Amino acid sequence: MSTSAHGTTETARSFFDDNSKPQTLQVKLKQTGEALEAFLDDKRGRGRPVVCITAGGTAVPLEANTVRTIDNFSTGRRGAVSAEQFIARGYGVIYLGREGCAAPFARRFQELVSNHVDLKFMDKLVLGDTRRVELGTEAAASTAKEGIVSGSGGAVTEVDERLVETLVAYKDAVESNSLLSISFVSLEEYLWCLRMVSRCMDRMGRHGMLFLAAAVSDFHIPSHKLREHKIDSSRGVRGDASSGLTLHLDEVPKCLGMIGEEWAPDCFRISFKLETDLERLLPKARAALKRYGMHVVVGNELHSRYDKVELIFPDGAERQIKKARGVGHVIEEALVEALAQEHFNYIAEGGGVGRGV
Ligand code: PMT
Repeated sequence: MSTSAHGTTETARSFFDDNSKPQTLQVKLKQTGEALEAFLDDKRGRGRPVVCITAGGTAVPLEANTVRTIDNFSTGRRGAVSAEQFIARGYGVIYLGREGCAAPFARRFQELVSNHVDLKFMDKLVLGDTRRVELGTEAAASTAKEGIVSGSGGAVTEVDERLVETLVAYKDAVESNSLLSISFVSLEEYLWCLRMVSRCMDRMGRHGMLFLAAAVSDFHIPSHKLREHKIDSSRGVRGDASSGLTLHLDEVPKCLGMIGEEWAPDCFRISFKLETDLERLLPKARAALKRYGMHVVVGNELHSRYDKVELIFPDGAERQIKKARGVGHVIEEALVEALAQEHFNYIAEGGGVGRGV
């Protein structure tokens, strides 16, 4: 391992030593930790693989009593869709997702329904079938055409069917105890949760996978340097109204190295690299692979991220994954298929089911 990777790990370690956990976070970690252990022991007992998926962007507070934050961009969709795909392949999924972002299964309702949440939709909820009958077939047909509700005469629209499919898939996931969800908002919360989940995942050995799709802030104000109260915009930060706001942000330690070195060394580790400049994407993804000891880095460019991604492997191999042609396909089908295959090869190389089994 390079000296810089060691240095990075040291810095990450000191982040946890220097920043004490707020009381509320301590309670959350304790409660979540118990649920997590039970979830993992259940999967380990059944010989099922587990993936921890991180998704969404972290928020960096500017004040201790937080009014303002700096956010990292991520809708959470990559993680949410991937979670559904992993569950369909028999994985247990620990979903560490940003509160309010796309969530597995629930995101399909948002995509199918929320664009249609208008007054016609409200009429349907409040007045139901009676109104449609009163309005006659023309209005009912137009409502159905917009894919909101059952069409005239009770015919079921395509959207209805997809919503039912989603409910059934979610019910199956709940009944098979396949999904454990943990939410975060702030960077600090994310990092503490990631450490806790990774350390717990260690018991899965090679049967565990970390799929790190969250967009994590590179800069923050450490909690001991945060102002207590809301920054006073009328006085400016230096005391005069004309000075504007100048912030100094410290670098956030990359915790990726710690996962492989200390927290979950036997788990299969996948990180993501997002760039907006295609020229920089592959060099940055290759560098991340070496620097943090990942098994795969998934490189994606902002605008094409749902059409194609690049997989980078430690042996120098690179492979492009594309979304299948045709309506209704998502790139995560092919992405998760490829990653699960890599994971199964990795398990086969090591043998055994989890640590100490
Ligand atoms: O959510 P969507 O809108 O669907 O978009 C998906 C995505 C583009 C956000 C996703 O595919 C993606 O690329 N996520 C990673 C974005 C990125 O480059 O993040 P980063 O540079 O902050 O971090 C790189 C990797 O290190 C990521 O795997 C991140 O989860 C991880 N990381 C970073 C910092 C840190 N302190 N700890 C980490 O674990």
